[in-house]
Amino acid sequence: MLSPFTVAVVAALLLASGADALAMEVAKPSPGLMPNPTVGKTLYEKNCASCHASDLTGNDKGPPFIHRVYEPPHHGDIAFQLAAINGVRAHYWPFDDMKPGPTVTPDDVAHITAYIRMHQRKAGIH
Ligand code: HEC
Repeated sequence: MLSPFTVAVVAALLLASGADALAMEVAKPSPGLMPNPTVGKTLYEKNCASCHASDLTGNDKGPPFIHRVYEPPHHGDIAFQLAAINGVRAHYWPFDDMKPGPTVTPDDVAHITAYIRMHQRKAGIH
């Protein structure tokens, strides 16, 4: 029979590891950051355009962002953080997986997302 103490220690360990896993999965930009589409453009060109195209319409390696499936209600800003940091298993399009990109920080992704949202709004996707 496990003592109540053992049970409490195991529960605490489980909670702690769960919290760590969450912190790793859902990266958050710095508090107070103002996402800036102009900063995002440069970061996007460098890190994302090779597969999602400079004009965000996609190419033979990745899907377009100017597309209803990536409008905010379907793919909220968290989806961009998760995709850029953890990568994406191919599920929606006939492309390869998107590899995780350790090159971008959560702040970078917030700027990139602001840039993508600006273009989506211009195209009437919101
Ligand atoms: C090496 C190619 C490649 C690069 C570079 C790349 N992506 Fe992707 N991305 C993909 C592919 C392929 C998919 C589609 C996966 C699927 O749904 O089948 C995708 C999907 C996504 C999605 C949708 C995720 C979801 O939840 O369905 C987001 C968001 C995204 N990319 C953001 C980014 C951002 C931001 C960058 C730059 C930091 C980036 N990608 C760079 C290939 C790439």
